Amino acid sequence: MLNREFVLSFREAAPYINAFRGKTFVLAVSGEAVMEGGFSKLSQDINLLVSLGVRVVLVHGIRPQIEALLKRFGIARMFHSDRRVTDANTMDIVKQAAGATRYEIEAQLSMGMHNSPMHGAHLRVAGGNFITAQPLGVLDGVDMQYTGQVRRIDTEAIRTRLEAGELVLLSPVGFSLTGEAFNLTMEEMAAQLASALKAEKLIFVIEGRGVVNPEGEFVSTLTAQQAENLLKAGHLQRDVTAYLPYAVKATRDGIPRAHLVSHHEDGSLLSELFTSGGTGTMIARDALVKVRTATIDDIGSILNIVRPLEEKGILVRRSREHLEMDIARYSVLEHDGKIYGCVAMHPFPEAGMAELACLAVSSEKREHGFGESLLHHVEYKARTQGLKALFVLTTQTAHWFIERGFAEADRATLPMAKQAFYNHQRRSKIFVKPL
Ligand SMILES: CC(C)(COP(=O)(O)OP(=O)(O)OC[C@H]1O[C@@H](n2cnc3c(N)ncnc32)[C@H](O)[C@@H]1OP(=O)(O)O)[C@@H](O)C(=O)NCCC(=O)NCCS
Repeated sequence: MLNREFVLSFREAAPYINAFRGKTFVLAVSGEAVMEGGFSKLSQDINLLVSLGVRVVLVHGIRPQIEALLKRFGIARMFHSDRRVTDANTMDIVKQAAGATRYEIEAQLSMGMHNSPMHGAHLRVAGGNFITAQPLGVLDGVDMQYTGQVRRIDTEAIRTRLEAGELVLLSPVGFSLTGEAFNLTMEEMAAQLASALKAEKLIFVIEGRGVVNPEGEFVSTLTAQQAENLLKAGHLQRDVTAYLPYAVKATRDGIPRAHLVSHHEDGSLLSELFTSGGTGTMIARDALVKVRTATIDDIGSILNIVRPLEEKGILVRRSREHLEMDIARYSVLEHDGKIYGCVAMHPFPEAGMAELACLAVSSEKREHGFGESLLHHVEYKARTQGLKALFVLTTQTAHWFIERGFAEADRATLPMAKQAFYNHQRRSKIFVKPL
């Protein structure tokens, strides 16, 4: 039997698949995600990303693995300013933890059993001395010893491996020109890798689902500025406080988007990347474009956009009173707090259809994809109401709709209620898009 939900989800993912092909994603997976056994599912999703042509650099953490080994060998933990002080004994532990974790990840990524999603994938994993480190030195009189920081990243070597279709796996250990190994932090290294490689995304796979604001609400999207404000205000969850500053730093360094996703929820990575809603928290470099339901307060802005188009006969004239009554059917596109576009959806549930109307983008912001965002919004809204098709009546914008999957139809395809109100003088053409 046809699985309609699968077909719809796959179609929803298609634009993301096209946009991500050939792009570099730096994926920072916490040590907990590997230790607690959740990595086997995650490794299948990472494998899928590589199969879809995404260039993946995977950096893993080792914090809980180090803690477990220190405990086993009875070695004391030492910290200064939230950083581990790595003496020679601890550095031996760091190497053991990094080695074991790395092998665990490589093993999982190599899985290819017949009944697994990775059957036939043959993912190649590359590694090497791509990170040059230097000691952090003496901080406030404390010698941090083998605790280090990134000095240089061999981006050319990493790119060569990525271009060959390989996944680059890096442990948080760097090597100095004096031939020593240094203990690095996974989040700092991941953010620096993302900037150096000019990655499209930096994704932290962490304990929690993402950012929950002080009011207790989950936040799915944030600008870098909003994230900084939340960090300043405090009261965030522990892992968010640890990773969010690096997500912000990466976006400030030019990475368009950073994400926080949970390793506890199976499929959260795919859902964050390939659906419009996502499951985690996305931090965007630029101000976000938001399409939302209109309110009475938006009527002035909507009229400013549509009045010139009504005067030219492109849109049908609507009175302010009509807009006030129907406002819940309107959506507006907001960018940086200003309204640049609008659209209305009138459902005809008895016919399984909805009319898309009053689609308009203010002239100074055309050709930024805003029209398309408004169309997607209405498509999504209609689908969630179980409607099977969208129709639009237009006099001058036929090709814009045809290029986006609409086909011309005759009047008989319209819901009866709409046919009765068809304006014969306007002679609009009718276009229908199945959903
Ligand atoms: C149609 C409209 C909403 C598109 O908004 P937008 O934000 O510029 O749309 P997008 O950025 O998603 O798409 C831009 C593309 O559509 C094309 N386009 C714009 N108007 C078009 C038209 N009337 N016919 C065909 N293509 C058109 C642009 O040339 C551009 O093409 P490109 O991507 O090849 O460069 C906007 O042009 C508008 O407000 N028009 C006046 C109102 C209108 O006609 N509404 C529809 C009434 S039913």
